[in-house]
Amino acid sequence: MKSDAIDATHEFLVRYGGDTFPRLFTSARGTVVTDRTGRQYLDFTSGQMCATIGHNHPAIVDALHRAGDKALHFFSGMIPEVVAELGETLATKWMPEGLNKSIFINTGSESNEVALRMAKMYTGGFEILTLGGSWHGITGGVSAVSMASDRKGYGIPTPGVFVIPEPNSFRPYIPGATEEEAALANLELALKMFDMQTTGHGAAIIAEPVISAGGVLVPPKAFMQALRKAADDRGMLLIFDEAQTAFGRIGTRTGAEHFGVTPDIISMSKTLGGGLPMAAVSTTTAIEEDIFNKKFAFYTSHVSDPLGAEVSLAVLRVLEQEHLVERANVMGRYLREHMETLQQKYEAIGDIRGLGLLLGVELVEDRNSREPAHELGALTTRKCFEKGLSMNIRRRPERGAVWRIAPPLTVSESEIDQASEILDAALRESLDEMTRRQ
Ligand SMILES: Cc1ncc(COP(=O)(O)O)c(C=O)c1O
Repeated sequence: MKSDAIDATHEFLVRYGGDTFPRLFTSARGTVVTDRTGRQYLDFTSGQMCATIGHNHPAIVDALHRAGDKALHFFSGMIPEVVAELGETLATKWMPEGLNKSIFINTGSESNEVALRMAKMYTGGFEILTLGGSWHGITGGVSAVSMASDRKGYGIPTPGVFVIPEPNSFRPYIPGATEEEAALANLELALKMFDMQTTGHGAAIIAEPVISAGGVLVPPKAFMQALRKAADDRGMLLIFDEAQTAFGRIGTRTGAEHFGVTPDIISMSKTLGGGLPMAAVSTTTAIEEDIFNKKFAFYTSHVSDPLGAEVSLAVLRVLEQEHLVERANVMGRYLREHMETLQQKYEAIGDIRGLGLLLGVELVEDRNSREPAHELGALTTRKCFEKGLSMNIRRRPERGAVWRIAPPLTVSESEIDQASEILDAALRESLDEMTRRQ
């Protein structure tokens, strides 16, 4: 192996977009990841938001061994015992009442492909309403309903997609209106436009309970309730994409629980696999029965794999046994207090929002103009990394520069103290450096 990690990356690997850190990484445990030189970093992104119970939790490692002793994979028509047990656990402990039937696949993108296919087959429609700034995945169908990344260069997206402006308490599209008024007025207008354009074949409204990649935006409860009504009024299904919100991250079991709204379909991934590729979709018995009779199909080489199910059961048990759903609230408050202290110190911190341990910290040029501070965001994120803190910054011109801060729910107070000190120092240095350059 070449000694220069980045040379090796450039020579042999396809670069797939997003920021790449200039190191190769070798191990991870709890909140800490380690690079090839032995340097350690606090991981305040929980990997790709998957290490919700911490990296390489001993229960996950045990589950991997158990799966190794039993079976990793079967023919898709052979349902593993452990998959049936996971279905029962989701239905009886984690899903809102009525969402009893689940299917297990591998990635969040795939879970939303499943959800859309279910909705299309059940309703006989194809039109989908989605929220601005949303991210539902990279594959064909779901990239067409995703608005948080660049869509240019990949040809014609799936037709029949309509966009509802996303609620944004910090940048409301209607000046002077309250957050809820603006969200509801925008929704009303979007539905009016949809009703003008629809072919009468609506299938679903899809929404993230917290619009995460779009800047960690928490919709008002009335907005989510209005989405439920909008779907019902039009004979469409409501899909919650709970890739990030399912299983404790926001201090409730699911986003549906937080909002008190039961969708027809919930897609889940990330936390469920604890770092392994694992995803699920849950729906009602009535919908499952209907689409089964219409010959619904979704299978890949890895549908119902026992390996992922063994790990998922372990993750869900740890969440329960270590009381991590409640802990998301406690540690979320602790982290938020630290961010608020920094906000008092730095004019550049314009807004702090989020739920539980999914926080968004938005950087601005100044608090009056609310102009996004993109350069400051990029520079500070780099400096954080150099000082041992891995942070994720969401940068889009229309949406601002927002740190998504989401450590594992097992994060300790001292790790939060340490991360806040790094952030403080990195922000100070970045601001000084930018002033010197002017
Ligand atoms: C809300 C949401 N949905 C779907 C996805 C896609 O999941 P995956 O990357 O596992 O395909 C993501 C990934 O970031 C996500 O955040």
